[in-house]
Amino acid sequence: MTNPNDKPDSARINLAVFASGSGSNAEAIIHYSWRTTSAFRVALMVSNNSRCGAMERAMMFDIPTVHLSSTTHPNADEYANALASALQEHQIEMIALAGFMKKLPQEIVQIFSPKGRSRIFNIHPSLLPNFGGHAMYGMNVHKAVIAARESTSGCTVHEVDGEYDTGTIIAQKSVAVLMADTPESLAARVLAFEHELYPDVLQQKALEIQNNIL
Ligand code: GRF
Repeated sequence: MTNPNDKPDSARINLAVFASGSGSNAEAIIHYSWRTTSAFRVALMVSNNSRCGAMERAMMFDIPTVHLSSTTHPNADEYANALASALQEHQIEMIALAGFMKKLPQEIVQIFSPKGRSRIFNIHPSLLPNFGGHAMYGMNVHKAVIAARESTSGCTVHEVDGEYDTGTIIAQKSVAVLMADTPESLAARVLAFEHELYPDVLQQKALEIQNNIL
């Protein structure tokens, strides 16, 4: 399936989506990119998991994919070089991490901060800085939110600075935590908000790049 509304490629910012899991955010981003008003196109899917749902979805939408991992590249420098080459080959200008379970090499963060501000973004399923950090991913986040008896959770899009969940916060959406919530029910409700928030932020950032603001 290809984009029915494709504008000339040169008119859009080339975005790479990095994902390791099911890829529902990746798909929301791809769908948004099909709008005639979209300032970005998804030019590449990068994964460390060749069989994940995100890779399957990208292939279904005829988006080029690349699989790079510690299995394909056990040496960290060679991994970083291969990643940089793939991004260069596809003329990537902006990166969206969407459930990507591998830390980005610092070289990549540097390359994508040409004016000192990162053009790499991440979405996290909590209201950062709460419930972020090393072990805070997937269902761990929602379990911790419920265990802490929070009345509100949500999702956050932030700049990526090479550490876990510490970059500048760009946008957040709040979601009420219900008395009856399980980690799974809360995760599902937060995920629906992620699908709305992330493409909107990427659109804003692509416009900033086009206008030489970022
Ligand atoms: C999302 O909850 C996102 O916030 C987190 O990883 C999950 C990815 O989900 N970073 P999906 O693969 O996009 O469905």
